[in-house]
Amino acid sequence: MDISEISKNAKRLTVEEQQRLSLQNSRMVSQHKARMLEVEAKKHWDLFYKRNETRFFKDRHWTTREFEELLGENVDSPRTLFEVGCGVGNFIYPLIEEKLNFNVVACDLSPRAVEMVKSNPQYDSGCMKVFQCDITTDEVFGQVDKCTIDIATLIFTLSAVHPEKFVLILKNLHKLLKPGGIVLFRDYGLYDMAQLRFKPGCKIAENFYVRQDGTRSYYFSVEEVEGLFNESGFEVIVNSYIHRRTVNKKENIDVPRIFLILPEMPLEFERPVSTLRFSWKTHFVLEFYFEGSTMKGVII
Ligand SMILES: C[S@@+](CC[C@H](N)C(=O)[O-])C[C@H]1O[C@@H](n2cnc3c(N)ncnc32)[C@H](O)[C@@H]1O
Repeated sequence: MDISEISKNAKRLTVEEQQRLSLQNSRMVSQHKARMLEVEAKKHWDLFYKRNETRFFKDRHWTTREFEELLGENVDSPRTLFEVGCGVGNFIYPLIEEKLNFNVVACDLSPRAVEMVKSNPQYDSGCMKVFQCDITTDEVFGQVDKCTIDIATLIFTLSAVHPEKFVLILKNLHKLLKPGGIVLFRDYGLYDMAQLRFKPGCKIAENFYVRQDGTRSYYFSVEEVEGLFNESGFEVIVNSYIHRRTVNKKENIDVPRIFLILPEMPLEFERPVSTLRFSWKTHFVLEFYFEGSTMKGVII
């Protein structure tokens, strides 16, 4: 059972959680190691997929519920969706199953992940183009023409790259989008359970950490995401956290999570690219915890 509440507030830390975060600063990742992690990002993600193959991430069946823009009501011709950091296709294949009339373009840093997407029985080279690419570089423009994308998706991908490259990525997407195009964004939120659990020796920079396997993860605040998108030429319309708790007494599940989400550019608006508008929400998932007094229930 998931119960969600939309709110403007970030999670308020308990004293114990504040102490845990402070302790992380007692031993930071060395500058040399941080540099190597950046240089070897592709290797670490590729090894991640070698180890986990297609088993790690679950298919994302929530996407059309949370991103209504994907449904594209009253849209007759196929739209082009670009999934950045597609992994093994957990976001795109559920969409394809729903037969939403998309041409899908997808890229990932990991060559193995790209091969796994292409090995999926649902892969259709007629309406899909999947390629290896580092989205923090210009490589993408060799594969995708500017102003050709209707919807770009960043689903737990921005957090996987170095914070200094966030704006570069968003500016690349801005160039690829058609006027009136949208970015759908979902990612980890500030003080997610996973952030609080990092031990000393894992913190690279503020809200940026390395996992045991060498992959990295950033935790966003709503204010920061708004600033990043504004700086990259987008306008933000909606801005809120969704606090969620999942209760499964039978399975004794107790894993608080915090995510960010950023959708909703009404497609009927035609605007010059420089004034692209789209709204965004911050998805904040937290189990057995509620901030604020009102609790709106959504039972799934
Ligand atoms: C947490 S996974 C998310 C996968 C997928 N979006 C999903 O929803 O299942 C993050 C993905 O971003 C990819 N990635 C990391 N850095 C990247 C970069 N610079 N360019 C393209 N993809 C990148 C990783 O290889 C990984 O597959």
